[in-house]
Amino acid sequence: MTHPRDEVRALARSLRLLLASEREAGALDIPGTRAPNAPTALPETAALAATAAAAHAAPQRAAPAPHATLVPPLDLPSEALAPFGDLPARVARCTLCVLCKTRTTTVFGEGNAAARLVFCGEGPGFDEDRSGRPFVGRAGELLSDMIVKGMKMRREDVFILNAVKCRPPDNRTPAPDEIAACRPFLTEQLAVIRPSVIVALGNPASQALLGTVPGITKIRGRIFEAFGAKVVPTYHPAYLLRNPEGKRDTWADLQLVMRLIAGAG
Ligand code: URA
Ligand code: URA
Repeated sequence: MTHPRDEVRALARSLRLLLASEREAGALDIPGTRAPNAPTALPETAALAATAAAAHAAPQRAAPAPHATLVPPLDLPSEALAPFGDLPARVARCTLCVLCKTRTTTVFGEGNAAARLVFCGEGPGFDEDRSGRPFVGRAGELLSDMIVKGMKMRREDVFILNAVKCRPPDNRTPAPDEIAACRPFLTEQLAVIRPSVIVALGNPASQALLGTVPGITKIRGRIFEAFGAKVVPTYHPAYLLRNPEGKRDTWADLQLVMRLIAGAG
């Protein structure tokens, strides 16, 4: 059996390698987004090492510490969702797919109901399921940086929503039947917002918006038409946290989006 000390040593070695490769990945490509440096990678890997050691010391694993919500509440009027009528209430009590059984709360989406620009993610994660707000964890923090520091807009100016409104257990990818069950809600939301441009974040969002399409690396940065809007797929922020080298492409895609919005009059 491996000694816990060796296991911790091996993890420390992986951590050093990870940090070196992240440092090598180098400067940021989306203006103002955080460098993929030690503070981001360290807690996770350190926690992993601690868990490995604890697993040997005690048979029972401690419950994971709750994640803090990284994105502060938006400065929105209390009636911000009024244009959607009873849709938020219908979403909140939905039981059309199995995700309703494991959710804490539904995540309708938030922002300006008259926004020109919509960001569509895949589905709520841990923080979103707890808070009822979209993109408020680490991926949300990067999305905020992309909007605020990159595109020079406020989160309050856009609308952020997801293909599915309930968290898939263990953050698994939402299944096609779950995306299909939730799609009428997405359609109704987009019929109210009537955006000029929709950014599809990653594969599931692209499929929810566009149907069967090739993978994200093939379609990112291209302009599709759906829901009376231009749809531009790009990488998902959670993917960019793991693959910072993709930020350069995403920044190019967001610059295209800004040109589309400017040109849409
Ligand atoms: N990832 C998503 O796709 N959506 C969220 O709301 C959060 C993380
Ligand atoms: N797969 C996804 O779903 N999204 C990405 O951005 C990359 C791979």
